[in-house]
This record gives sequence, structure tokens and C-alpha cells, in this order.
Amino acid sequence: MNNSDLQIKKVKLLFTPGPLTTSTSIKEAALTDLGSRDSAFISIVQQIRERLLNLAHVKAPEYEAVIMQGSGTFGIESVISSAIPANGMLLNIINGAYGRRISQMARIHSIPCIELEYEENQLPDLLEIELLLKNNSRITHVALVHCETTTGIINPVTQIGEIVSGHNKAFIVDAMSSFGAYEIDLKNSNISFLISSSNKCIEGIPGFSFVLANRIELEKCKNQARTLSLDLFDQWAGLNVNGQFRFTPPVQVLLAFNAALDELVNEGGIKARAKRYQENNSLLISGMRKLGFKIYLPNELRGYIISSFLYPTHPNFSFESFYSILNDKGFVIYPGKLSKVDCFRIGNIGQLFFIDIHMLIDAIEETLIEMQVKI
Ligand SMILES: Cc1ncc(COP(=O)(O)O)c(C=O)c1O
Repeated sequence: MNNSDLQIKKVKLLFTPGPLTTSTSIKEAALTDLGSRDSAFISIVQQIRERLLNLAHVKAPEYEAVIMQGSGTFGIESVISSAIPANGMLLNIINGAYGRRISQMARIHSIPCIELEYEENQLPDLLEIELLLKNNSRITHVALVHCETTTGIINPVTQIGEIVSGHNKAFIVDAMSSFGAYEIDLKNSNISFLISSSNKCIEGIPGFSFVLANRIELEKCKNQARTLSLDLFDQWAGLNVNGQFRFTPPVQVLLAFNAALDELVNEGGIKARAKRYQENNSLLISGMRKLGFKIYLPNELRGYIISSFLYPTHPNFSFESFYSILNDKGFVIYPGKLSKVDCFRIGNIGQLFFIDIHMLIDAIEETLIEMQVKI
């Protein structure tokens, strides 16, 4: 075994927004080889699709769950490139890097897009959205990131959904890092398409994204996709005809995901998971405050998924050293993604518990001492 093998074998705790620390039983569920046409596999896929709709408080046939191979971005691009018709227009509400990524998709697919961009520590202005929709009849779809993982800010999805539906537009919500940890009622929030992925708050392993869609809006996607592999309608139609994927599915990842859904139920559902994440987050924030770190977002804007911390101003602080010392101790944190401020991020989702947060705070304290950084 060489050095890098040893490095990989060492167990690390992931304080990131995904891939996350997962439980042994979920990893074990991925140890079975099953053919993609096996009836057992087809029935598991069907179960997963139903269970996902249940989590969003909706049911088929009014809503449908479509699984798309690839990471979360593939699912979002599938919606953006399939749902907006040739004569359509997107209003993209942005307050972070993931919102900006949606505009990038629109540009690549030559989809007309109006951007309503806010500071990364600012909530969207509801009146401005209302006015824009009133004055732009060409807009057909509105996109919003629920938890903007760039900072951890939580956008008011239900309030914006009400405005969007009041103007008869379709509402696309990137709930990548929040679905499974926040109760989101698709119907009540007037969401036409919600996207998340296997390796976020359901706590599975990476390999696919899923789209929960209002059936009427999904049916409108027929024959308007701009790509073959990310054609949302055809993917859904394929799954509906014989339960099979059009192209090779991530079989083991889906088996692990079904086990992850069992674990979510055993934990007590979204409510209980949200409580654990909230407690993790409160402990993280108070521990980091005690060490002297400053939090980028004010309390009222912060969710409980991921937090952004300002770099300490002490001259001995370098994020690269801080990251690699912590990594060697077995704690993986995450770099910042803010456009104007130097921050790093710590996630508290996945199989992380009180004891893990305590250990992380202790490791950060030791790291600061080793780096001779005083805050
Ligand atoms: C809000 C949000 N959108 C999109 C993505 C992209 O997902 P992926 O990296 O799985 O493609 C992420 C990833 O963390 C995210 O947090």
C-alpha cells in the first residue's frame, strides 16, 4: 500500500456541503451488483421516486419524480435546457455562485434571461420581483436557489412562489443543499420543478440528481430539450414506460440512496433531521465564536446547513495551511465561494453529531495554536 492509499483509507469527517460523511449501512448497501434491468432494481427505483414525492408532500400523478444521472448540476441543467421553450424567457433571482451558474446555463443554451442579482448577504426584494413579472410578459419561468450554499443564506421560497404563481409563471427551485433538511411543500410553495441530489441532506452517496416536477409543467417539456442526455421529458417517459433508465444508471448509488431514505425515516423524518442539523449548527457557531471567528451572515439570514466564516486578519493565517493541518487531523472543511470577501465554509450536514462538532472545534483550536494565529 503506498502513501496515497493510506491517506484514502484514513477515516475523515466531512464538514462540507457534499459529498458528506455517510453511515456504514448506506455504504454497505452499495456493495451489491444488480443489473439495470433486474426487476428488483426497477422496483427500488419506483419506490425511490414515490418516497421522494412523499418527502415533498405531493403524489403522482399530479407530481412526478425524475432521476437524472450525474451530479446536482446535471439535474438543474436538465430542467433549464428542457423546460423553457424556444420563445420563453427566464427570470433568474441570484444571491450567490449557484444562482450565477443557472445564468451560465441559460447563456450556453441561448435562453433569454433577465438577472435580478443581489449581494451575497442580501435577500431578494419581493416587490422588485413582483414589478418585474408585472412588466415583462415574455418571462415564462423564474429560477431561485433555496439554500444558496455559497453563504448558507435561506431564500424565502414560499413567498417568492406565491408571487410567481400569481403571475402564472413556472417556478424552478434549486433545493440542492436544503431538500431533506427543510420541509418544502411543493404544492404550497407553487414549485413547478425542484432539484436536489443523492449526496446532500438525504445523506446518500454521489451519482445522481432528481427533479420533482408538476406533471403539467413536465409534459410541456416534450420535444423542447436542447440536449439528448439531459432531456427531462424523455428521461421521465423512459422511466414510466418500463421503469428503466435510457442510459446506464448508477445502480449501486440508487441502492445506497434507498437505504439512506430508510435511515431518514428511522431518524424521525425531515423534522428530526432538521433538529439534529440545527443543534450541530448552533454548537458550531457558538464554538467558533468562542475561538474569536466572525460569521459572515447575520443570524436572521443564516440557515442550518453550512456557515461562512471570515478569514482571521492575523498575519500568520493562511487558509491553505489551516485547511491542510485540519485535513491531516481528519477534519475536512470547505473553501469559500464568495465573490468579494475572504471566507471559508463549514458544513454540518451528513452523519455528524454533537461529538463530531466538539472534536472539530477542539481541532480548530489546536490548529490555530500550531499556526500561531491569535484572533
Ligand atoms: C445550491 C447548489 N446548487 C447546485 C450545486 C451543484 O451540485 P453538484 O456539485 O452536485 O453538481 C450545489 C453543490 O453544492 C449547491 O449547493
